[in-house]
Amino acid sequence: MQHQLTFRPLCPADRDEIQAFYADMGEKSASFFNVDHGNERRTMAFFENGKPDHRFFVAADGERIAGLVFIWDIDCAVPWLGVAVRDDYQGVGVGTFLLNALFALLRARRYGGLLLRTAKTNTAAQRLYEKTGFVCIGTHPSGELLYLKRFETEAPLD
Ligand SMILES: CC(C)(COP(=O)(O)OP(=O)(O)OC[C@H]1O[C@@H](n2cnc3c(N)ncnc32)[C@H](O)[C@@H]1OP(=O)(O)O)[C@@H](O)C(=O)NCCC(=O)NCCS
Repeated sequence: MQHQLTFRPLCPADRDEIQAFYADMGEKSASFFNVDHGNERRTMAFFENGKPDHRFFVAADGERIAGLVFIWDIDCAVPWLGVAVRDDYQGVGVGTFLLNALFALLRARRYGGLLLRTAKTNTAAQRLYEKTGFVCIGTHPSGELLYLKRFETEAPLD
């Protein structure tokens, strides 16, 4: 990847850039990630009230936000995950970078893993998830595929 990315928490100064992130999202990406502006509202709520049951992180390329990842149900051992990369940054490793950085953080906090749902037609996302160790464990009642990533635990008791 040619970009110099940093992984960091979303911060209040990112408001305009996050608005641009959603405004610039093409139809295909939005059809997977921002149906009825749901994830946009979820993210913008961070700037209103901090969205305390969520944690948001970005891959920043200088001033530009190249990708966004967030988790919710953060009090659960296995929270839910959402991820999106700017259309003009897709396919160059930003999604992989975001997930690997998030895994390191969550492992250090002793989380057990992550859950996510994705559309059956979202083959790019499935490729990213399978490449980073998620396993498809079935179909969610919504009809979407359900994926689980388990973080390795200490050696079991003898
Ligand atoms: C899914 C998404 C997050 C992947 O992020 P990304 O930064 O493009 O992914 P990476 O560049 O790290 O690539 C990861 C793997 O996916 C593959 N991939 C990425 N885009 C792809 C595409 N359009 N078609 C097929 N494979 C694709 C890559 O080739 C790579 O696999 P490889 O190393 O074996 O080649 C990104 O496409 C996106 O934001 N899509 C719109 C929003 C979305 O669908 N979010 C997920 C909702 S569940």
